[in-house]
Amino acid sequence: MSLRDAIVSQFKRPRGLLGRIVGWILAGRGSNLKRNRWTVDRIDPTSGEIVLEAGCGPGVGLSLCLERPNVKAVGVDHSDVMIAQAAKRNCKAVRAGRLTLIQGTVETLPADVGPFDKAFSINVIQFVDQAAFVAAMKRHLKPGGLLATTYQPRHAKATRADVLKLATKVSEILSAEGFGALRVEELDLKPVPAVCVLARKAA
Ligand SMILES: C[S@@+](CC[C@H](N)C(=O)[O-])C[C@H]1O[C@@H](n2cnc3c(N)ncnc32)[C@H](O)[C@@H]1O
Repeated sequence: MSLRDAIVSQFKRPRGLLGRIVGWILAGRGSNLKRNRWTVDRIDPTSGEIVLEAGCGPGVGLSLCLERPNVKAVGVDHSDVMIAQAAKRNCKAVRAGRLTLIQGTVETLPADVGPFDKAFSINVIQFVDQAAFVAAMKRHLKPGGLLATTYQPRHAKATRADVLKLATKVSEILSAEGFGALRVEELDLKPVPAVCVLARKAA
């Protein structure tokens, strides 16, 4: 495996010491913090709601959800290293019973942890079978629930056209799954924008 492939594989599934470093990078990098805050603002969790983050990494997006009063959350990630970092970052919420962290995938998530008012992912969609991922997120949402999928490519030479292509593909999958109120928003980041595709499960 090339060094580049080794680094990309760490972002796909952080493991061991390198994986811990990847978690620290995700939690400290300005562009990731902006992407996370922007996405959580898009779904706007409010009092009494329960939110799912798929591929929660070190738990930055979950922290932003849990800053909001009387919001509960579940984070799922297939990396044990990321689940440990998310637990440490959000230990008060875990102790208070406001946050549940599960090592696994959204496809294997037990049905009884939901259903959720809102569900989101940030820079996970590029790593998964997108149709299976959207179908699984849909299963865990309440009728009328909101799904947000954020993506900003990190590879060299990525272009805005790559961002929009992914947004179009995700939008098509959401429409085929019967989601409505579809909208695509862009965040101006360097070197390429981030995109968030939002849609509601049929009521
Ligand atoms: C680039 S990181 C982003 C982490 C976090 N969302 C953030 O913005 O800081 C991608 C994360 O998705 C997780 N991941 C990738 N594919 C996954 C899958 N099929 N199921 C669960 N987690 C997955 C990885 O383990 C990693 O923590």
